[in-house]
Amino acid sequence: MKFRKPLGVLMKEAEETGEGTLKRTLGAGSLVALGIGAIIGAGLFVRTAAAAADHAGPSVTLSFILAAVGCGLAGLCYAEFASMIPIAGSAYTYSYATMGEVVAWVIGWDLVLEYAVGAATVSIAWSEYLNKLLETFGVSIPYELCHSPFQVSPEGVNGIINLPALFIVILLSLVLIRGTKESANINGIIVILKVAIVIAFILLGWSYINPVNHTPYIPVNVGEQEWVAGNKGFLDYFENDFGKFGMSGIISGAGVVFFAFIGFDAVSTAAQEAKNPKKDMPIGILVSLVICTVLYVLFSHVLTGVANYSEFATAGKEASVAFAIERYMPGYEWLSILITVAILAGFSSVILVMLLGQSRVFFSMSRDGLVPKIFSEVHPKYQTPYKSNLIFLVFVGLFAAFVPGDVVGDMTSIGTLFAFVLVCIGVIVMRRTDPHTPRAFKTPGMPYLPIIGALACLLMMIGLGKHNWERLIIWMALGFVIYFAYSVKHSVVRKQSRKDLN
Ligand code: ALA
Repeated sequence: MKFRKPLGVLMKEAEETGEGTLKRTLGAGSLVALGIGAIIGAGLFVRTAAAAADHAGPSVTLSFILAAVGCGLAGLCYAEFASMIPIAGSAYTYSYATMGEVVAWVIGWDLVLEYAVGAATVSIAWSEYLNKLLETFGVSIPYELCHSPFQVSPEGVNGIINLPALFIVILLSLVLIRGTKESANINGIIVILKVAIVIAFILLGWSYINPVNHTPYIPVNVGEQEWVAGNKGFLDYFENDFGKFGMSGIISGAGVVFFAFIGFDAVSTAAQEAKNPKKDMPIGILVSLVICTVLYVLFSHVLTGVANYSEFATAGKEASVAFAIERYMPGYEWLSILITVAILAGFSSVILVMLLGQSRVFFSMSRDGLVPKIFSEVHPKYQTPYKSNLIFLVFVGLFAAFVPGDVVGDMTSIGTLFAFVLVCIGVIVMRRTDPHTPRAFKTPGMPYLPIIGALACLLMMIGLGKHNWERLIIWMALGFVIYFAYSVKHSVVRKQSRKDLN
């Protein structure tokens, strides 16, 4: 038997929590700004360089395009769900109403990777840029106090704990508990700041591009060439050469820079506040994606042109943009400082949105009985799920303090890609199971576009490699243990249907 949450119940709950009173104030422009605010962050300013150094070289620009195709198609599916179930929510809420409790659990549990582990990733990036900023004032945090124990500096110093990353997680969690609402104006200013620095870097850096750094544009992968020529077996190639530059490097790079697009789904959570969701939701999601893709491609083209991608594996590994400017763009040190400050502000807003998203998803899951009640207990004065915020402070803080940025970043990417695959498949399933429920927006090209979207996301998941699959499988297995040991017994929907049967 499939346990689905009735749509009527969802609507009623939305009213009870006050969400039914949300005003439809957001036009297409505000939705696009919301999207860009949640999108541009560590993915661009940190992971572009990592993807170029380890996987794609200058062709990281093509990785961005591949990632954008996957996100765009998944975005269309999100838009259909958001217009069908016009409630402020997330993939978790949609799937509970449509595909049943097990799928909802899988998505809800998986979203912890997107939001909580994602917040840890951005906080680690925040730490790197903070260090860069302090260096310009002649101060620096000792390596061991701003890196995980699994990291070693080029000079052989071992990390112990990443204190600045932990600090920003604690600070922003406390801000969330106090319920300080990020006002639309602050978000607007940060969006303008972020876009302005990206454009400034593209325009000013363009004339510093050294064509040598772009030759060859797709670095050679010898093992791949041998495999193509038939001189190497597939398994040997896949195990030893896949993802290390060449064509497969573009795919692996896409898995890494995919992180830069995470957040566009935040637009879908504002479905209830859109003035004209039918038209504006797809515009909000797709236009913010297109703008970011154009900016990302140009930005990464300039970054890998100003500095050589191989430098990002060593000296320029951290705070890569500031590194490129300081080393290769003499006279623009002021730009480096400005960019660093803007990046720190931008990262903070991304972390805040992610921590907020995490507590919202667990709030809903807790009210549905799938996770303990503690996650939906609200502070008497601040009216925020403060206990949930505190639990996630510890969880996210541990990742931020002790795990390297690329590990948490890849976990975030594989988790989010998995959610996107499920959403793409979900839209196709829904057309069969609930063909008559009205949809204000319909994904075009059914079922081909969602299938291509799911395949593109799957391809990026493959590009992320064996270790990340192992991490995803362990995380999901842990989720199933909790689901069968706890959630099945406490599920409100199950209890209700047992009552109805009696
Ligand atoms: N897309 C967001 C970032 O890059 C998560 O930081």
